[in-house]
Amino acid sequence: MNASMVSWDSRTFRNTMGQFSTGVVIATGMLRGEPAGFAAQSFVSLSLDPPLIAVCPGKTSTSWPKLREAGKFCINVLAADQKAVCDTMAKSGIDKFASIPWRAGTTGSPIIEGVIAWIDCQLEAEHEAGDHTIAVGRVVNLGVDAPEKSPLLFFQGRYGLFTGL
Ligand SMILES: Cc1cc2nc3c(=O)[nH]c(=O)nc-3n(C[C@H](O)[C@H](O)[C@H](O)COP(=O)(O)O)c2cc1C
Repeated sequence: MNASMVSWDSRTFRNTMGQFSTGVVIATGMLRGEPAGFAAQSFVSLSLDPPLIAVCPGKTSTSWPKLREAGKFCINVLAADQKAVCDTMAKSGIDKFASIPWRAGTTGSPIIEGVIAWIDCQLEAEHEAGDHTIAVGRVVNLGVDAPEKSPLLFFQGRYGLFTGL
């Protein structure tokens, strides 16, 4: 069968992609003294030498342009007890940091209290990718705050916990 003859709708695409379980991160940054951030599952460790990561903001994101302008951002790896943080950071147009405690990382970007780990980055490059962008960060500092905690997982559109086999 010729590949161009195969068709599927966006629901089938989303449903199929939803079978791949991921963790959840919050990409944060600081612009003119104001914190900004958004929830993401499109995070990957990209390169060891040089130390690079990637995260993929949507073209409709109102937070990413602030992180881009700041030229630096921090990836916060959420723990299972931080679903409420994820819900807040996934909403657009609100004061997301009103009730979320954080400290400033090396780049000044927020490190959210209670995360498992954080990866502080300089924005290295951006690559167009359809309705999203592949944003590459060069790691300038990183740390594990709570290795004992279980991560927040996302699978089939639902949140979950990690249990080792
Ligand atoms: C579990 C989860 C994963 C998400 N992953 C992404 C992602 O990888 N990229 C993205 O741009 N938005 C993702 N979103 C949606 C954004 O968090 C949401 O569109 C964004 O926070 C909107 O706010 P903004 O306008 O302040 O950017 C995700 C949302 C949830 C709940």
